[in-house]
Amino acid sequence: MKVSIIGSGYVGSVSAACFAELGHEVICIDVDEEKVKMINAGRAPIWEEGLDELLMKHSQKSLIATSDYDYAVQNSDVSFICVGTPSGEDGSIDLAIVKAASASLGAAIGKKDGYHVVVVKSTVVPETTEKVVLPIVEEFSGKRAGRDFGVAMNPEFLREGKAVYDFMHPDKIVVGAIDERSGFVVAELYRGLECAVTRTNPRTAEMIKYVNNSFLATKISFANEVGNICKHLGIDTYEVMDAVGTDFRIERRFLNCGAGFGGSCFPKDVKALIGKAKGMGYEPQLLGSVVAVNDHQPLKMVELLQRKTGHIRNKRIAILGLAFKNDTDDIRESRSIPVIAELLRLGADIAAYDPMAAGNMKKVFSNITYCTTSSEALSGADGCLIMTEWEEFGKLDSEFKGMADRVVIDGRHMLRPDQLKTKIDYEGICW
Ligand code: UDX
Repeated sequence: MKVSIIGSGYVGSVSAACFAELGHEVICIDVDEEKVKMINAGRAPIWEEGLDELLMKHSQKSLIATSDYDYAVQNSDVSFICVGTPSGEDGSIDLAIVKAASASLGAAIGKKDGYHVVVVKSTVVPETTEKVVLPIVEEFSGKRAGRDFGVAMNPEFLREGKAVYDFMHPDKIVVGAIDERSGFVVAELYRGLECAVTRTNPRTAEMIKYVNNSFLATKISFANEVGNICKHLGIDTYEVMDAVGTDFRIERRFLNCGAGFGGSCFPKDVKALIGKAKGMGYEPQLLGSVVAVNDHQPLKMVELLQRKTGHIRNKRIAILGLAFKNDTDDIRESRSIPVIAELLRLGADIAAYDPMAAGNMKKVFSNITYCTTSSEALSGADGCLIMTEWEEFGKLDSEFKGMADRVVIDGRHMLRPDQLKTKIDYEGICW
């Protein structure tokens, strides 16, 4: 089938490359000419495992990029809206980019003979596809949904760093369509994948995405709340969750307590769902607590450090890990950000190390030292906070010898102090 993809961020570029890999002809549409050039040169505009290889394989064959909406719509049957949906000031969703893309798509569909399907893949709160996207496409195309063009919502469940794998090995494919015809066309696109397609209506598909992410975020905040209780009791929360996680109704995954969740999805999606509920006059208490626990959790790292080192002013503190999780350079909503801000407020001298994300964090904090190795960050440090679950941090040992005072607060359960040759003053945030 011929597919056009609007937006070449991580959802758009991964979906484009994977649809090409499934044998479809793909046209990427992006207003950013730089990204268009990169994709046409077989280079990914974002880092994702396996993405460059797929783009190299399909670029200029079954996959091209353009900023010309008319060309793309004329030469495709289905268009996916994969643009960003950032948070507004109050945490509610900002649909400005989705509206702009819907208008451009509508204008292009207006000039096309024949049926076309509009699919929302961006994460949008329930009712957005039917009450925002559909009317805009009708207005700018002068055509009628259901008769002249189809509309559907097809959420993604891609993890950063594993997005290509997740796309090609889904545990669910959700297609919420306004009618049978639109739903059938979108479901057909995934024929090459071994996964059942859940067919429903657009707002249910939108809600499935939010509930999926909000439940995972709730699992993590629950694990952190239990972790904070266990901490007072001197109990290792991981031991507790290993046992609890054997219950088939609970499942062990996403019960790793620590410094909290970050990223471009969980914080934003939970807040957007809260905003949507409040907008309808419902106060979502549980989701509110999920965010509150997550906002406070990273600051416990600083509290534990202060308990060990006393005042922090002019002390050299090593921060190991800036990315919101391992295997990505993404720092969005990283739990390191509130920790660094608090340490700076307390007058600390920070030396930070991250295998990939220092470049992005420099745009947020220009007044801290960025090191190229853990050793360099630990050298002469009066304390260390482990903030991201990079595998290499689990292998640290002799590097701690360079510290002035070997106080180590672990926010990601990376170290086993009893197995280290180097003696350190170790503390786990929840164990
Ligand atoms: C997430 C969802 O997993 C994915 O399905 C969705 O499409 C987008 O959002 P991602 O944001 O890439 O993906 O990150 P994920 O791997 O889920 O981790 C999210 C955060 O939770 C990270 O900060 C991670 O450190 C933290 N986390 C994860 C925990 O604190 N404990 C856990 O047990 C698991």
